[in-house]
Amino acid sequence: MDSSAYLRSHIRTVPDWPAPGVQFRDITPLLQDPKVFRVLIDTFVHRYMDKHLRPDVVAGLDARGFIIGSVLAYELGVGFVPIRKKGKLPFTTVEETYELEYGSATVELHTDAVRPGDRVLLVDDLIATGGTMMAGKRLLEKLGAQVMEGAAIVDLPELQGSRRLREGGLALFTLVDFS
Ligand code: PRP
Ligand code: ADE
Repeated sequence: MDSSAYLRSHIRTVPDWPAPGVQFRDITPLLQDPKVFRVLIDTFVHRYMDKHLRPDVVAGLDARGFIIGSVLAYELGVGFVPIRKKGKLPFTTVEETYELEYGSATVELHTDAVRPGDRVLLVDDLIATGGTMMAGKRLLEKLGAQVMEGAAIVDLPELQGSRRLREGGLALFTLVDFS
């Protein structure tokens, strides 16, 4: 089994959660098994250790992007910055509102989280409509950073998010597709 099929086999699908019609792709079984978790993190580390792709900063999207993003930043020896749902960050922030597969949300980033010109890797667990990752990209760009790539475990290509993100100029690296 290749690593994509191996990771895929550890993602659980929960029908009709959190709303009717949503097939929820649950990554918790993948994190729970230490061997699988290591394969996951090592796959990202291997890519972003490359001298052309090594970021200055990893930004993680609330909340599941924190789990992968912080471990990845630690392994790469770079800083981690959280992009949080509104109302959680204590210092001055920039904010963006966006639509989700099920609802809408506002995310924030501390104004001193990145410096102009920083090359930032943006990390989340999953891309659905792409709204979350696009909002994260806009926040980082408001502060003058350059988002070099978006990385996620799962892409849901039928929701067109990854296509829209790529058309909007964001390079993406994802490991597992669910159609
Ligand atoms: C989920 C997921 C991504 C986002 C993807 O997070 O973890 O962040 O949705 O959807 P999109 O591509 O349509 O924007 P959610 O907002 O459910 O928050 P959580 O991580 O706190 O569960
Ligand atoms: N976030 C948005 N859509 C999702 C889905 N179908 N499964 C898991 N997380 C999601």
